[in-house]
Amino acid sequence: MTLVLGIETSCDETAAAVIADGRAIRSNVVASQVDLHQKYGGVFPEMASRQHVVTITPVIEQAMGDAQTTWDDLSAIAVTHGPGLAGSLLVGVNVAKGLAYARGLPLVGVNHLEAHIATNWLDVSVEEGRVVPPPVMSRRSPGPVGEQAMLFDETDSSAPPAQGEPDPYQITFPVLCLVVSGGHTELVLMHDYGEYQRLGATTDDAVGEAFDKVARLLGLEYPGGPAIQRVAQQGNPQAYPFPRARLDRSYDFSFSGLKTAVLRAVQKYEPEPQRPADRVPGAATASSRPRLHPRTAADLAASFQTAVVEALVEKTSRAAAEYKVSEVLLAGGVAANRALRERMQRALDVPLRLPPVALATDNATGVGVAGYWALRRGQVAGWDLDVVPNLTLT
Ligand code: KG4
Ligand code: ZN
Repeated sequence: MTLVLGIETSCDETAAAVIADGRAIRSNVVASQVDLHQKYGGVFPEMASRQHVVTITPVIEQAMGDAQTTWDDLSAIAVTHGPGLAGSLLVGVNVAKGLAYARGLPLVGVNHLEAHIATNWLDVSVEEGRVVPPPVMSRRSPGPVGEQAMLFDETDSSAPPAQGEPDPYQITFPVLCLVVSGGHTELVLMHDYGEYQRLGATTDDAVGEAFDKVARLLGLEYPGGPAIQRVAQQGNPQAYPFPRARLDRSYDFSFSGLKTAVLRAVQKYEPEPQRPADRVPGAATASSRPRLHPRTAADLAASFQTAVVEALVEKTSRAAAEYKVSEVLLAGGVAANRALRERMQRALDVPLRLPPVALATDNATGVGVAGYWALRRGQVAGWDLDVVPNLTLT
């Protein structure tokens, strides 16, 4: 049995999870800072890192307690070291280093985007919308033991296969990953665990960022994605013919034109901006948005969401066909979006793997899974593991 403690502090969630054999969730604790940042309409980096300092120890203690695990049971500690906010990442990385050093455990640095992808390898029993059956697990005797495979218990017949052994998930690579979060929008070919080739990315806003900004324009709360999804349910997706983001032959995305189109539409419903001389001190200015009629906000939200989803689905299904992938998977907070999940499923000719909605946004389960696979590849970090705020997958 290989137990990995995953730690995640890349943005505004303090999270820890214990993962068994890279697939079973023993515990999953997430302390959200949403309430703290809501009044700013986005993440306030300084406050985020200070809050991580306050929350990280109780979160890890709870994850260990929920998993009924002792430190001696653990095989490794995995931690997100990028991409993300430098001050936030530093908290997780330093705590992970301290614990690994004190307990004599291997330390593994995990890429946050890879952790999002890795939540798709979890074997969870309650899986909303999952269309690929849980991985077929065959019990196998341990194979030839390499240096890193020594980390696993050789006498345990359910121990993961050593390097070079067949993949217990029986995944046929390449797999196409659409990573859509608050900071990233990337279309990536996955050739193997840890081996990625970027096909395209956003040239401006990340898709989650576009959801958050448009939500603010519509007077909805932060985070904007769930708010837009909720309001859009009552709206007409054809009400506003917003531009479809850069439907050219590349696999890059662009969402700033769409965001501007929503702004222009919203401005039509606003009073003329006041001249400075007309302003009463302390009164609301033109920048504090008046409330749109709920019907209008719903139509704008639905039209915006449809334009985003169409752009994502069009490029993903085209890339899936061109690269003849065996399956497509969604990852990142926006993968929780119901319209995206449904439209993608309908458009693809290959199976679609979806993270459970509750695990799409930031948490540490994927850190534990990605940490397990990194461990199998022998990728143990040194004590000089550093944060890399702009770390990439490729
Ligand atoms: O992956 P994540 O939790 O954090 C980052 O790594 O950025 O993603 C957060 C983003 C936010 O922008 C949030 O608005 C968006 O994911 N999001 C959604 C939904 N749930 C979260 N966007 C669209 N629909 C949703 N249901
Ligand atoms: Zn994330």
